[in-house]
Amino acid sequence: MYSDKSVIVTGASSGIGRECARLLLAQGNRVLAVSRSRDRLVEALGAETGDLKLLAADVADLATGPAAAAAAIEAFGRIDGVINMAALHTKLDWKVTTGEEFNRILMANVTGSYVVSKAAVETMIERGIEGAVVMCGSGSILSGSPGGRGRGGPAYTASKGGITVLVRSLANAWGEYGIRVNAVSPGVTESAMTADYSDDARAAAANGAVLGRMGLPGEPAKCAVWLLSDEASFVTGEAVYVNGGLDFGATRVPPGPGSRRQGFRASVAWAKFTLSKLRDARLGDSRS
Ligand SMILES: NC(=O)c1ccc[n+]([C@@H]2O[C@H](COP(=O)([O-])OP(=O)(O)OC[C@H]3O[C@@H](n4cnc5c(N)ncnc54)[C@H](OP(=O)(O)O)[C@@H]3O)[C@@H](O)[C@H]2O)c1
Repeated sequence: MYSDKSVIVTGASSGIGRECARLLLAQGNRVLAVSRSRDRLVEALGAETGDLKLLAADVADLATGPAAAAAAIEAFGRIDGVINMAALHTKLDWKVTTGEEFNRILMANVTGSYVVSKAAVETMIERGIEGAVVMCGSGSILSGSPGGRGRGGPAYTASKGGITVLVRSLANAWGEYGIRVNAVSPGVTESAMTADYSDDARAAAANGAVLGRMGLPGEPAKCAVWLLSDEASFVTGEAVYVNGGLDFGATRVPPGPGSRRQGFRASVAWAKFTLSKLRDARLGDSRS
């Protein structure tokens, strides 16, 4: 249980960030919620209260980090944690991803997470507060998603790879202050980011996971809040994948349409086929 803490949550107007903010508020924390639109923040979380403050700001703007830290300190007097969920998605493949587009995605997804976290952690170090930072990676770094077919392109994939390494560097640097830094790395999850997926893309995403479905935004959100809490007191520098088993690759039992048994049958058939090939090869050896 994580409670009575002050946390900055970026990307709080939608999807996983909204679920993080809701969960933190429900557990008795104070939240500074950040997104580019105050209206969307109000729609997602309601009007400001003593425990909820809203900040409309673009994390790609280098002024947003210091502004968010100052707003949280003014409202709550301290910062104990940060959850960076704000990110831009792009499916553009390498042929149409210009340098400008690449920079636009990296500024929001990597630089934004860095600058917000840095400004917050400076206030924590000044006050001797031992807390935690969570950033957001992605399963796309495991698949090397090339874009163009529904999934993130090179700019998005590079940004999430950047985050995954950034948490290691910052965990290393901030460990001496008792500040932990981790990433939660969702697989394909129901949210505004995936709302335009075609039926085929949704089916491919579901079938690509051992658990045979897309994730729900509350699932990575629970992991992010756990990473902030003392329950994760010895976890730092890690990327925790919340993806229903997207990364089993060639060893994955192929899922049938919603049926474990079908997946089991498919793997038995595959094993029989492989054994028969081995037997044929051995017979071939003994014949020669
Ligand atoms: N959904 C997936 O399948 C999936 C998979 C892997 C990783 N992720 C990651 O999970 C995180 C949350 O994504 P989601 O699925 O919840 O997407 P989402 O529903 O589209 O939410 C994205 C949030 O980020 C905010 N945002 C975007 N750009 C911003 C900027 N420049 N400045 C400030 N706020 C900004 C958006 O708010 P405004 O539009 O109001 O600014 C919104 O609140 C992201 O880091 C994403 O890369 C998602």
